Amino acid sequence: MPQRQRYLFVCVNRRPDGNPKGSCAESGSETLHAALKQEVFQRGLAKTEVRACSSSCLDLCWVGPAIAVEPDGYFYGRVQLGDVKEIVDALQRGGRVERLVLPAADFDEKTAAPGLPPPPAAAGPSAAGAALGEPKP
Ligand code: FES
Repeated sequence: MPQRQRYLFVCVNRRPDGNPKGSCAESGSETLHAALKQEVFQRGLAKTEVRACSSSCLDLCWVGPAIAVEPDGYFYGRVQLGDVKEIVDALQRGGRVERLVLPAADFDEKTAAPGLPPPPAAAGPSAAGAALGEPKP
C-alpha cells in the first residue's frame, strides 16, 4: 500500500457509561469514523490519498468527536455526521473546514467552548458500520 497524503485519526475512545469525562464514542465518533471511511472509499481516495483511521483518546474529550489530520497537524472538533462530505470535499481541494478546526483555546478544557451533547440512543458501532457498508481495512 502506498503512503497516503493524509491520515485522519478519528478518536473512537469509549469510557464507561457515567464517566464524567465522557468520550468521543459517546458523542458518535464510531459512526463518524465509519462514514469517513465510506466516503473516502466511494470517492476512490482510500488507496492512495486519504486513510481514515481510528484512534484512542486524543486528549480533546471536551470538544469531541475529535479528529487529528496528519501530516498537516491540525485537529477537527465537535464533528458531526453531517460534516463528513464537507471534510472530504475540503481534502480533495487540498484545504480544510475552518469552522471545525480547533483554535488554541479549545486545547484547554478550562477555556474551550462547549462540546456536543451525546446523541440520543445512537446505534452501536457494528450496526452503524454495517449500515454504511463499511469497507474492510
Ligand atoms: S475521548 Fe476522544 S479525545 Fe478523549
